[in-house]
Amino acid sequence: MSDKKTSNQMWGGRFASGPAAIMEAINASISFDRKLYAQDIKGSIAHSEMLAQTGIISAADQEKIAHGLNTILKEIEAGSFEFSTRLEDIHMNIEARLADLIGPAAGRLHTARSRNDQVAVDLRLWVKDECFRVAEALKGLIKALLERAEEHAATVMPGFTHMQAAQPVTFGHHCMAYVEMFSRDLSRVRDAIERMDESPLGAAALAGTSFPIDRHQTAKALGFREPMRNSLDSVSDRDFALEFLALAAICATHLSRLAEEIIIWSTPQFGFVRLSDSFSTGSSIMPQKKNPDAAELVRGKTGRVTGHLVGLLTVMKGMPLTYGKDMQEDKESVFDAAETLDLMLAAMTGMVSDMTVNAAAMKKAAGSGHATATDLADWLVRTLGLPFREAHHVTGRAVALAEDRKVGLEKLSLEDLQSINPGITADIFSVLAVQNSVKSRTSFGGTAPSEVRKQIRAWKKRLGKA
Ligand code: ARG
Repeated sequence: MSDKKTSNQMWGGRFASGPAAIMEAINASISFDRKLYAQDIKGSIAHSEMLAQTGIISAADQEKIAHGLNTILKEIEAGSFEFSTRLEDIHMNIEARLADLIGPAAGRLHTARSRNDQVAVDLRLWVKDECFRVAEALKGLIKALLERAEEHAATVMPGFTHMQAAQPVTFGHHCMAYVEMFSRDLSRVRDAIERMDESPLGAAALAGTSFPIDRHQTAKALGFREPMRNSLDSVSDRDFALEFLALAAICATHLSRLAEEIIIWSTPQFGFVRLSDSFSTGSSIMPQKKNPDAAELVRGKTGRVTGHLVGLLTVMKGMPLTYGKDMQEDKESVFDAAETLDLMLAAMTGMVSDMTVNAAAMKKAAGSGHATATDLADWLVRTLGLPFREAHHVTGRAVALAEDRKVGLEKLSLEDLQSINPGITADIFSVLAVQNSVKSRTSFGGTAPSEVRKQIRAWKKRLGKA
């Protein structure tokens, strides 16, 4: 007896009433699953209508149930609903209040249903809605990028590999690379919606029910394409949440890469872009500084979103069929990832639209580092018929000579170039200018402004249809 008391004092410290309080604290999900109130009520109304239509409950009871649920919806939205941890989760909080409001008829709502299919349908509805929100936000970001791309289809900047200036490209082309990436994210959202568009409601606890329910009716009423085909799968599946987190993590990764580039571009050393005051802050001690905080936070928050994906994958990997309380851990990951991604998309769209592009700084950087060396080699192949390997070698010697003379490749004299290969003519200077280098890359998907504009037109058309 006294032993028990001591051990309880050791592990029950902050839980005044011992094991019962600890159980309540670990078991309750109302602090976060209250977010599902609208979906829960919508699901319950659809379920009650089906129960009445199949004759499982009376029309009079159904009316009372629907009326009570609508009252609860108003109470929650007005902030007057009292959530109770003792009632564990959103489902029981609503059902208990329904009993207060309409009496015994409330007890009929849970016929042919379990919290297992109830929570599965609630969360699916929520994630599906969120997917539509993400799709809209992605379209906004893509549009912002398309506008910048159009404006800068011919603005030359250095293209990098290994973070070393490699060949000149255009800023418009660079923006369009992100249009491709975010469009893939958009198509992933649409694929995910397509797969999650099935209703688990009516699977009951796990095995289906002996009541003559109509799962097609509830599926349709809730906006799902069809009911899920296997009751065990219906209550144990969280793929829709995992897919959402996966697409969110990939999208966040894209956002983070762009954020990283914006951070680099906005350093005084690069000076390619200047962020608007709304998306940067000053330093409290160093007056000259303008910090790209929003971009840094987009980059930083990516860790959180990816963490949520790994978290839920880890929860699910050990789950035998069907439902286990572990799965209650799905919600906080999904909610936080959603909120974070929405914010990241909004911040990035704002930054892309508002930033000032310094075309002169980009052009200057594009011309440094002998960026048109490949153009020189290509000219030797095209005009003198040299094998590319030999042209590469000749170009290497020209670069070495330019380094020697401390000038850019395009500043070498014709005599200098002819000392390396006597076949070289003045025509070579036409390809050594960055603008011409860029203009010449007309291969499909290349950086020539004409090609970039083609892609912009195509994406605008596709987006218009979406
Ligand atoms: N709060 C629970 C969850 O989020 C609802 C389902 C509870 N089901 C059960 N059989 N205990 O997963």
